[in-house]
Parts: sequence; C-alpha cells; structure tokens
Amino acid sequence: MKKLFVSILFSGLLISCYAQVIKVSENPVRWTISSENASYQVILTRDSNLTTGYYGPLSGERTFEADDWNADPRFGTSIREIPYRGGYVFMEPTIEVIFADGNRELELVYDGYETGELDGYPYIRFDMKDIYYPFTVSEYIRVIPELDIMEKWLVLKNNSKKDIKVERAYSGSFRLPADEYDLIQFSGNWGREFIPRQSLLTPGIKSVFNRDAKSIQHTPAYMIRPHGESDEFNGKVYFGGLQWTGNFKLDFVIENNERLQVAGGINYWDSHWILNKDEEFITPKIISGVVEDGGTNGASQLLHQYVRNHILPKPHNLTSKPVLYNSWYATHFDVNEEGQVALAKIAQEIGVELFVIDDGWFEGRNDSRGGLGDWYPDAKKFPNGLQPLISKVKELGMDFGVWVEPEMINASTNLYKEHPEWVLQTPHRTTHEGRNQLVLNMAREDVKQYTIEWLDKLLSENDIKFIKWDMNRNWSETGWVGASPDKERELRIRYIRNIYEILGVIREKHPDVQFEACSSGGGRVDLGILRYTDQTWPSDNTNPEDRLYIQYGYSHLYPTNTMLNWVTDWGYGDHQKNIPLSFRFHSAMAATLGIGGNLTAWEQEDKVIAKEMISLYKKFRNTIQQGKYYRLKNPFEETRSAVQFVSQDRSESVVFAFQVYETIAGVPYNSVNNRLVLHGLEEDASYAVSDGEEKFVISSKVLMSSGITVNLKGNYASKMFTITKQ
Ligand code: GLA
Repeated sequence: MKKLFVSILFSGLLISCYAQVIKVSENPVRWTISSENASYQVILTRDSNLTTGYYGPLSGERTFEADDWNADPRFGTSIREIPYRGGYVFMEPTIEVIFADGNRELELVYDGYETGELDGYPYIRFDMKDIYYPFTVSEYIRVIPELDIMEKWLVLKNNSKKDIKVERAYSGSFRLPADEYDLIQFSGNWGREFIPRQSLLTPGIKSVFNRDAKSIQHTPAYMIRPHGESDEFNGKVYFGGLQWTGNFKLDFVIENNERLQVAGGINYWDSHWILNKDEEFITPKIISGVVEDGGTNGASQLLHQYVRNHILPKPHNLTSKPVLYNSWYATHFDVNEEGQVALAKIAQEIGVELFVIDDGWFEGRNDSRGGLGDWYPDAKKFPNGLQPLISKVKELGMDFGVWVEPEMINASTNLYKEHPEWVLQTPHRTTHEGRNQLVLNMAREDVKQYTIEWLDKLLSENDIKFIKWDMNRNWSETGWVGASPDKERELRIRYIRNIYEILGVIREKHPDVQFEACSSGGGRVDLGILRYTDQTWPSDNTNPEDRLYIQYGYSHLYPTNTMLNWVTDWGYGDHQKNIPLSFRFHSAMAATLGIGGNLTAWEQEDKVIAKEMISLYKKFRNTIQQGKYYRLKNPFEETRSAVQFVSQDRSESVVFAFQVYETIAGVPYNSVNNRLVLHGLEEDASYAVSDGEEKFVISSKVLMSSGITVNLKGNYASKMFTITKQ
C-alpha cells in the first residue's frame, strides 16, 4: 500500500504547512487524520468495510484501537465509520434506503479513497458501493487542522435506471472512546434561548431535534465532556454542530458496548427523498472537534474561530459591525416617515451608524393581521415609497436597513388572493394560523423565484444596506398543492434548501447588503443559516439581566460578531426594576451593540450617557467582536457575571463585570469574590487597566494570577474595564 503524505501550503492568514494531515498505513490499512492536537482513525476491515478507530486528543504516541478491523467476515463489521441499515450491526444508521424492488437493506463495500484540497484545506473521500445495486456512497472528511475540527458529509448516488427512496441520509457519525459522558445541549424557548443544560448520557438514545423551519427550542450544536467535569478552562471537551436550519436531528447513542456514537443531520421525520437515476444527494455538513485540556471555554474559542473564518459570508466576517438602531420597540407597527425621522435624528446624535425600520412598513401592515406577502411600501404610511426616508437617513450619515419576513403570508393580502395555492395546506384539514399568518411553501420553485424577484427589486430600487430576515411561526399542515405524494414528502428538505438558495442569489446580486437571521428572537441561530447571514437576533428578550444568561449560553457556540444586543427600555420600569442605563449598555456592549429603545422618550442625560457609551464601544469594538472570548463568571452559579475579550494580537483586552444583586452576606465583596482573574494576555507584558475612573499599570502576570479588583456596589452595578498593553 502506497504511503500518502498530504502537504499543503495555505495562503492569507494561515501561513503554515500541514504535512501529514492525512496518512495511510498498512496492516491493517488505516487512515490517520491528524489535526494540531487531535487524531481520527479510519480502518479498512477484512470484510471490506470501514470502521472507526481512535478519535480524540493526541497524547504522545497516538493510541490505536484496532478493535474491529479484523471483523469476522461471517458477521461483518459492527462498528462502522458510515453506519447504514443492513447487515449485522446495531449502530444508529446514517443511511436508510429502499430500492425499487422493495429491498430495504444496503450492503456496502469499500471502493477506494481520494485525498485533495477543498477551499485550501485537506480532505479525504472514502467511496463505498453496494455489492448488488448500482448505488454508491461517498463520505467526505475535510480537516481544519489548526482548529481541531473535522467536517463530514455524505454523497449518495443512484447509478441505476430506477428510483431509490432515501428514508434517511444523515451528514455523518462520530464515535467517541468509551467513557461516561455528559452532554451539554443549548435549549430554551422564546425569551430564554440558549440555556446550557448538562445531563449524563446513559445507555439508549438521546435525541435533540426539531420538526420545523425554525429551532427556537434547541440550537443544533452541542458539547460533550467526561461525566462530572465542569471546569470552564480545563478538561477534555468534544463539540460539534450541524450546518442545517430548523428541521434537524442529533442522536447521542450509547450502545451495548458503552461507547458513544454521535450522529445527525436533516430530520427525516415525515420526509424522504426520491433519488432519481443518475442523481446525487449531498447532505449538509456536520462538524466535530475536540479540546484536550481547554474546558468549555477552549471549545468555544475553536468554534468562534471556525464560524468567523469558515462559515460567515466574506468579507463581512472580519469587518466591524455598525452600531445599529432598530425602531420596533419604539413604534411597533405604527411607522411613518415623520416618526422614523424623529428617531433617526436622535439615533444619529448618539452615534448610531445603521438605522433599521422593523415590521410595519409594507402594504396593509397595520397589525399582525395584514401585509405579509405584499412587499411594497404601504401607500398611506409611505406615499412616495421608502426612498425619501432613506435619503433623510443617509443625509444624517447613517445606512438604512429593513425588516422582512419572506416565508410568511397573511390571508388578507393581494398575494394570497392571487396565489392561495402557494400556502402550506392539507386537503380536508384545518389550515392553522400562527400570529395570524400562514406559511408560504418555500419548497416550490415559483415561490422561490417570486421571493428572489421582490427582494431583488426592493434592494435595487432602494439604498438598503441591511436586511433583518424574520420567521415567526411554526410549520403546520405541510402539504403541497399539486405535488405528487412523493414530492410532498421532500417539502421540509426543499424548503430549507430554497431559503439558502434565495439568500445566496440575493447576496451575490447585492454583496454590500448584510443580513440578520431572526426567528421570533433566537429561533434561527445555526451553522447553516450563518453561511448566508452576518449576524443573528439571539432573543426578543432585551431585559439586560435576563440577557446575561442568554448571552452566556449563546457564547458557547457562536462568536460575538454574530450576536446582536440592543439597549432598550426593558428592565426599566418593568417588573419593578429600574436597571441603570449604564448596566443596560454594558450588557448590550458585550457583543455587537445595537439600540432599540424609544429614543424620543429618553431624557437628555440618557442621551449623554448613550453617546459616551457608544463612542467607547466603537473604540474597542474590534476586540469585542473579533477577539478571543472568556467567560469569567457564570450567571447561573452566582448573582454576577463577567466576560473578557482579548484582541487577536493580545495588545488590548476588555472586561465587563456585572453584579445583579448584592447578597445579604456580602459575598461579592469578600477578598476572593471581588477579583477577576484574567486570561489570554501576553506573558511578561505590562498593561494599563482602566475602569473609567481609576487607571493603573500592572504586569500581565499579576492580572492572570491574582486578577483585578472589581468593587461593584449594590444591585445592578456594572463596570467596563479596558486593558491596554504598554
Ligand atoms: C419578531 C421578532 C422581533 C420583531 C417582530 C416584528 O417577533 O423577533 O424582533 O421583528 O417579529 O413583528
């Protein structure tokens, strides 16, 4: 067997040489995929199948688990790299098909491999073919060595003359070494999204899934760590996620031999795909990574870099996000030129750079009962269209953005009158409404085309630089007027693919326009939608205290340049709380800053504070949006929270510290709890630390061992520290 060494030179930021990322050796034939700190092995078995060997951190000489490589051909390989339905195997299948003659079993054998480079990174492709039917499966594994992340996806191909029904085609499966593991999922609901929940994985299957085009209950990403470990900065952590939106499934399976299999992809509940002759089905990607000893923070660091450099649309992935104002909480549906201009003037005075009009600007949108579908400016509210408002906003020196909800329709609209057949519906069944709206069947080609056309027209005729793409209700009655029963069952998959296609086409036509993914708050934050959108709206809940929890959870998986926070009037006057504006600002400044309060009601002194805060934010936003992120205090464990950002070159750092309540025992101010130990600074360097009042110079050694004194007094106290290398 020939030895293969893949050696690749990277351009741009990645000036390093990855020799031997993928190695092949013989007896047994095995492929070792090595990233900087991790190793993954695939082994060819005696029954010509592929089995998974070791997967985990490199620890000195790599462990080699050959438990199944010499599988007895009478039984076959029970641990499969690509598990499928068929044969003597008990793993959760990634592939389930039915051939035209009714045969429901696959029998795949190894048919070669290929290595190469995709977008500057090495990949290996394993080819498998059925022993009888002209059907092949290829598994791709692409490696990001410096992040210890692998991407996997499958390509199914029907080479026969007859259709094959695909009942499941997950993106891939990973097998972790035997251990007792805790799963951390990020689940919640409206107003309390991304809450980390840790639970012991016991024998059987734990599935985290959705059956919708949104996923407000669970984001499709996870962390896994040895049971009982909870250190933020130490210990082994596996992590992963799916590049798919809404309708996903992640299975965590402990089989009878106590090993953990993680498999996932599109959720095939109520779905299948007909693979016609000569057609391919390419699954979305699933990713998996591992940190040997960096804890959950270490895993977050890698995920953040991955999202910034490999998921988010370029070039906006690395540019600073403008400070945005959104008028939703100020005016709701009651929008017109005069009211918006009044808000825009104040927004400009305090330093806003992008003015966004939310819901209510389009034809007939006076409340949630009308408008969705008729995507042109409301004739009464904007008799001369949006452009006069846009011109005024531009004159003030700001960019302009709008809210849209393209997947939705109200029954009272002109669009509905013209195309009632475009709506999801099932004959003889009640067509349910949610928030008074129906769902457009985005799986249809005509609906896709219509959506591309009106979005293109809106962006071509108006100087719009930002789109907030919302999606506010769940699917129901997912029928497709005029489609065959088979095609109807492809709807859930085609719908999401078309959303991606629309966004892709519009982005290509309008490369300057940035997009935000929103779904009743944080219902659409995932690695799939982030390939087409620049940022997300993590929650409609803008109470600055609640937000500390939501941001804490969100930050485990996705970077701060995707996390938009608004300073609003929530938390002030509601629930008997009067949270100071400085706390509301600090909470929102700890990612991508936006403003959403009713500015016309703000006192002069509020505007002065806002102006100062926004100006301070702008000075440090590059570090906050693009820097390394450290969770210093867990709000779920204490009445405080603190986060730290460090610029990639370590010359600058920012810390936000929050005290929600001062406890009766005075715990916050005893000598231990009054300190924050910092991370990630340059060794042997001096830094100037300022909390806006006091300023002192101190060595990084002290900052990273005994830390800084916080001195927060009372309830809803907060501070921003800036730390600059001398
Ligand atoms: C959803 C969004 C909000 C706002 C409204 C407008 O609830 O999450 O931010 O855009 O829709 O109707």
